[in-house]
Amino acid sequence: MIRACCIGWPVTHIRSPLIHGFWLAQYGIAGTYTREAVEPGDVARFLRGLEDQGLAGCNVTIPHKEAAFAAMDEVDPGAVAVGAVNTVWHEDGRLIGMNSDVVGFLKNLDDHVPGWEGEVAHALVLGAGGAARGIVHGLLSRGVPVVTLANRSPGKAEAIAAAHPSTIRTQVWQDLPAALGGVDLLVNTTSLGMTGQPPLDLPLQTLKPSAIVSDIVYVPLETDLIARAAARGHRTVEGLGMLLHQAVPGFARWFGVTPQVTSALYEHLAADVRGH
Ligand code: ATR
Repeated sequence: MIRACCIGWPVTHIRSPLIHGFWLAQYGIAGTYTREAVEPGDVARFLRGLEDQGLAGCNVTIPHKEAAFAAMDEVDPGAVAVGAVNTVWHEDGRLIGMNSDVVGFLKNLDDHVPGWEGEVAHALVLGAGGAARGIVHGLLSRGVPVVTLANRSPGKAEAIAAAHPSTIRTQVWQDLPAALGGVDLLVNTTSLGMTGQPPLDLPLQTLKPSAIVSDIVYVPLETDLIARAAARGHRTVEGLGMLLHQAVPGFARWFGVTPQVTSALYEHLAADVRGH
């Protein structure tokens, strides 16, 4: 019996057991994937004890991703870029961590718009939190030549841009509507549009018809931004696919099978999101 889990605090909102449980059943693997509430301050101790507890590894979610990063012996470049890990395993007594949100974002984009890199000369990323840092890293890793960051608090965007002065620009949040004209890919990483939050109040009239519009928010499945972009004929990429794809590296590592993100899995999770 192979065991893995997701740690967080609290853990009631965590959906990843639905994803891993679906794959364990689909591939007939004798394994479990549970939610484990780990108190802040106890993260390093829990992770150091993974092997002794009989756990192959774990996912890490809010608020533990930064503490987990600090506890790792080795991390992938995506984790370095974000300063956070969400996927952990052990190898010869060493803790290895990665940030699979970066891969999850890119694979979701690949799924919906194959070959997107070839047509994105300028990406505009809204937000400057951890998700934005990972997505900027992912876009640059795929060769996007120019990324513009816009954030309500400009200092956070400027701090990210400072690390890549030749490729990352910043944009004043209030002037966004005027800046949309040259954009090939628009990505919302803010919490605007999420159930319980205000919508992203950004007119899309100046966006080129060829522009791709992506949102990492997946509750609701179709945000107001995605609905307005789709109504204008843009290619759109919803956030739930990113959640599904970010689960792939951990499952492959712990359970030994690289799982597929299928429409049946999407529907399984979508039903849960619709029910809340
Ligand atoms: P994550 O790690 O998921 O990116 P985060 O670090 O909390 O989460 O970042 C949330 C993002 O949503 C931030 O860019 C935040 O902007 P600020 O840095 O100015 O706080 C953005 N955000 C949240 N509420 C917003 C609002 N009402 N208007 C504009 N941006 C908002």
